[in-house]
Amino acid sequence: MAIPYVLDAAHLLADRAIRRGDLAVDATVGNGHDTLFLARSVGPGGRVIGFDIQQEALDETRRRIQADASDTSLRLIHAGHETMATHLGENAYGTVSAVMFNLGYLPGGDHSMTTTSETTWSALDASVKLLRPGGVITVVAYTGHEGGEEEAYAVESWASALPEASFRTLSYRFVNQPSDPPRLYAVEKRVG
Ligand SMILES: C[S@@+](CC[C@H](N)C(=O)[O-])C[C@H]1O[C@@H](n2cnc3c(N)ncnc32)[C@H](O)[C@@H]1O
Repeated sequence: MAIPYVLDAAHLLADRAIRRGDLAVDATVGNGHDTLFLARSVGPGGRVIGFDIQQEALDETRRRIQADASDTSLRLIHAGHETMATHLGENAYGTVSAVMFNLGYLPGGDHSMTTTSETTWSALDASVKLLRPGGVITVVAYTGHEGGEEEAYAVESWASALPEASFRTLSYRFVNQPSDPPRLYAVEKRVG
């Protein structure tokens, strides 16, 4: 199919921003599919830092990366992504190529352990500081669960308010699907 699905589109955009050896962040590790994608994209010599509030998700992801991308340096942090700036530190400001968010709850897991508008907003603010010029933030948001619509609206408001002189932002979603299709928001920090 010519038009990529939302998750594939997020990968395509992140991949365009990432070079071998870069630093990338997975803000919602979950089952580790995005973490593995980032690990493969930055390659050996690159670094990936991931956040999740569920230890089981981090354990499963570590196994996945050890099996498929063990040459990439991986740091998994059992904490909310709203602590990202503290964990990475000011030295990391302006150095991250891609920050990926896949909001909501862990498929097959506890549906109450979901991302929230407040913490997502705060993590997005931190991501902008960490992003290098030319770097990209991707956010996949779901609206079918409680709080999801409000969270997607918060992300759209946040992205829409970024100054055009410094950032390029977009939303991407299928408009003829009947049941709450996911949406992709992406932000690129302009170079120069
Ligand atoms: C849709 S899943 C992520 C899927 C994942 N990207 C993948 O590739 O499998 C959302 C994840 O966000 C996590 N989460 C919820 N609140 C969080 C927060 N404040 N910070 C980081 N992760 C959070 C959940 O525990 C869940 O694992």
